Amino acid sequence: MSRRAKIADEVTGDLNPPPRLLMGPGPVNADPQVLRAMSMPLLGQFDPAFTAYMNEVMALYRRVFQTRNHWALLVNGTARAGIEAVLASLIAPGDRVLVPRFGRFGHLLCEIALRCRAEVETIDTEWGTVFEPEQVEAAIRAFDPKLVALVHGDTSTTMAQPLDEIGAVCRRHGALLYVDATATIGGMDLPVDAWSLDAVSVGLQKCLSGPPGSAPVTFNDRVAEVVNARKHIEQGIAPAGEVPAAGPIIQSNYLDLAMLMDYWSEARLNHHTESTSMLYAARECARLLLNEGLENAFARHRRASRAMTTGLEAMGLGLFGDQRHKMANVTGVVIPEGVEGEAVRRCMLEDFGIEIGTSFGPLRGRIWRIGTMGYACRKQNVLMCLAALEASLRQQGFGASPGAGVDAALAVYRAAN
Ligand SMILES: Cc1ncc(COP(=O)(O)O)c(C=O)c1O
Repeated sequence: MSRRAKIADEVTGDLNPPPRLLMGPGPVNADPQVLRAMSMPLLGQFDPAFTAYMNEVMALYRRVFQTRNHWALLVNGTARAGIEAVLASLIAPGDRVLVPRFGRFGHLLCEIALRCRAEVETIDTEWGTVFEPEQVEAAIRAFDPKLVALVHGDTSTTMAQPLDEIGAVCRRHGALLYVDATATIGGMDLPVDAWSLDAVSVGLQKCLSGPPGSAPVTFNDRVAEVVNARKHIEQGIAPAGEVPAAGPIIQSNYLDLAMLMDYWSEARLNHHTESTSMLYAARECARLLLNEGLENAFARHRRASRAMTTGLEAMGLGLFGDQRHKMANVTGVVIPEGVEGEAVRRCMLEDFGIEIGTSFGPLRGRIWRIGTMGYACRKQNVLMCLAALEASLRQQGFGASPGAGVDAALAVYRAAN
């Protein structure tokens, strides 16, 4: 063994993560085909073979987003990078932004908009509920925002905001609508054009069955026009004679959608080095989803949600939030009186190798969050999770009728066949 290897071995062993079934609010287990795609050889970023992959990624994500938008590209970074790219590129200092908040990620949108020096107005609804379109419209009337920023499925509360009417409301009042659909893409329907969503960003690590680290984004020409009105190409790569746009420069260089559009167009104007392996991952995630079929994937998530909720109730557990608006891929479970939530999670992880989620903010210590997403969203995982939860609860003195959860969930799957 070489001296160098010995030195490394003094501080680390082989990388050998323990096997886990990830049934929290994300990340979830990646599809092995995605991991395989990530191990493919690297290419130079202007290699025609690689730029062809970039074009394929655009074509694939137009389908994932159900849009005719030209712009469907990847922002390097986790889902938050996609959010920040859209908001930083759209919001100029002093712009009015409305953020309806129904969970933690609404607060995140608000925080990012404030960092972009927007004038931010918020409306809030109790965690576990969502907004009626009329509430959003009234706030738009009162505040006259340039942009409305909204989360689709907020994993912190497990609620999904219905969006089908809100796009039309925004159009009526001349506001742009941005949606963070990180937690729902691939698990719940999100027809970007039919719902008049102007810009949407997502991540790979939930229902797309990939690792965190790439943020697919789509936006329409209305958004591109606003962004390009602020386009200042970096000195050193700007073509001779390039005149910067009149609008205020976008504060972030890395997350500047105007420059990203140039990089993702035939101009291929150099910006960052595209994250090769993450692009392979994003491409495979989209391929797997589209080959399954969007409707089939949504139905798989709905079925797992029904099985999980039926099983949990059969165990005598309560579900959190307005169930009419529950996300199809995450379930909030009320921690029973007298049960120490973290001890149950520890038992599930250490004794069964299953991760479920804790919660934060006003729900800290009150609910667990169980994800049934992407590659992990399948019958055997739902059944194993319920069985492990039952046993872990018993360790804590909460006696569910043995087998009731698994039997009830199995009955849902049998009835669906
Ligand atoms: C709705 C929503 N938005 C944004 C994020 C942030 O994603 P990331 O941690 O990949 O930046 C998450 C992550 O859980 C999320 O659920």
